[in-house]
Amino acid sequence: MSEIIKYENGQIDVPDNPVILYIKGDGIGPDIWNSTREILDGAVEKAYGGKRSIDWKEIIAGENAFNKTGEWLPDETVNEIDKYRVAIKGPLTTPVGKGVRSINVALRQRFRLYSCIRPVKYFTGVPSPVKRPEDVDMVIYRENMEDLYSGIEWKEGTDEAAKVINFLNSEMGRQIPEDSGIGVKPISEKNTKNLVRNAIKFALAQGKKSVTIMHKGNIMKFTEGAFRDWGYEVARDEFPGKTITEKELWDKYDGKVPEGKIVIKDRIADAMFQEVIINPSKYDVIAAPNLNGDYISDALAALVGGLGIAPGANIGDNHAVFEATHGTAPDIAGKDIANPGSLVLSGEMMFRFLGWNEAADLVIKAFSKTILEKKVTQDLAREMDGATLLRSSEFGKAVVANM
Ligand code: NAI
Repeated sequence: MSEIIKYENGQIDVPDNPVILYIKGDGIGPDIWNSTREILDGAVEKAYGGKRSIDWKEIIAGENAFNKTGEWLPDETVNEIDKYRVAIKGPLTTPVGKGVRSINVALRQRFRLYSCIRPVKYFTGVPSPVKRPEDVDMVIYRENMEDLYSGIEWKEGTDEAAKVINFLNSEMGRQIPEDSGIGVKPISEKNTKNLVRNAIKFALAQGKKSVTIMHKGNIMKFTEGAFRDWGYEVARDEFPGKTITEKELWDKYDGKVPEGKIVIKDRIADAMFQEVIINPSKYDVIAAPNLNGDYISDALAALVGGLGIAPGANIGDNHAVFEATHGTAPDIAGKDIANPGSLVLSGEMMFRFLGWNEAADLVIKAFSKTILEKKVTQDLAREMDGATLLRSSEFGKAVVANM
């Protein structure tokens, strides 16, 4: 009998047969969803032998929903997520210039999914552009609701833009050219602290050594600089005895992180891009405002072999949406050749979130083995010597066979 996932006093309560929502997504979405579902069901069956199972329930969004209902994000979909709380989704077409904002952004805002979590880890055998991709093992906590992504923008030449420019020039002593478009970058104490708090909790729970705050606070003092300061504040005020600064690391501990503690450090965003390439092993968890987090996520994914296998999760206090991080890949849609890796690994994150670690371990084990055997989809096969080229659907079966 299927049941609903609940939250009790901020803690998730997962029944043995939970209803979990899925959105196949547009473009390659259906191709990668079918094999992902096969892999996730296979892992649950193998791990729990029938004691646990997922009652999948489909909901729609994106172009698929628009074609069926005239809505990009139907109310029913929103209501279902509200009720069932956990969903996994394929990529969605972002409507261009139709007065509709990105559906992904809308979902994040509606359910206050303030943490975007992107683990970036190397799987042996995946072609990578760097010499030691195995040193890359980081988890990015990206603030998901504000910064330049909050959508506060006015187009050049509109009355609204003119009004804002006039206010800034006449009342705030600025000299903004009249032919400017305007965007606003709010970064709040509450969202920053929520995000950094979760990043620190995760780092402590997983035995990681550091959380690095990535910011451009030298230039944007009251947004990105504040993000850094609030980050340090959370660490100091809420995790005393568990967190140390980089200065303390060297002054008191001779550069060795003591057992049970983590170092909180910060890096300027541009330097961070160099650092993750030159010294990847020095970084574990990265906490970043929305825009920095967006950039660094894709850059890191490229270091370990690209977006086709980078998973993501959007998590708030009461809802969680797991997703493929790539787009709908219209160039290869419907051909059964896309790499399901990103969606599969976001399913693995979902299992850990549910506390189903045995199933998560099985997914990782079988996925790694399949890649090591060089049984891969075309995106990876064309970069590997001696690979066996599989369709998306065949890849799903190969992974299940390796469990
Ligand atoms: P894209 O990620 O769809 O494609 C970029 C390149 O990567 C293409 O060559 C594509 O074939 C390849 N690729 C992507 N995923 C792959 C996979 N799983 N296996 C093999 N190859 C893969 O980015 P693009 O073209 O910029 O965006 C297309 C559409 O997707 C747009 O409407 C965009 O707004 C939307 N999009 C949606 C996202 C989401 O729902 N999370 C994220 C990014 C874009």
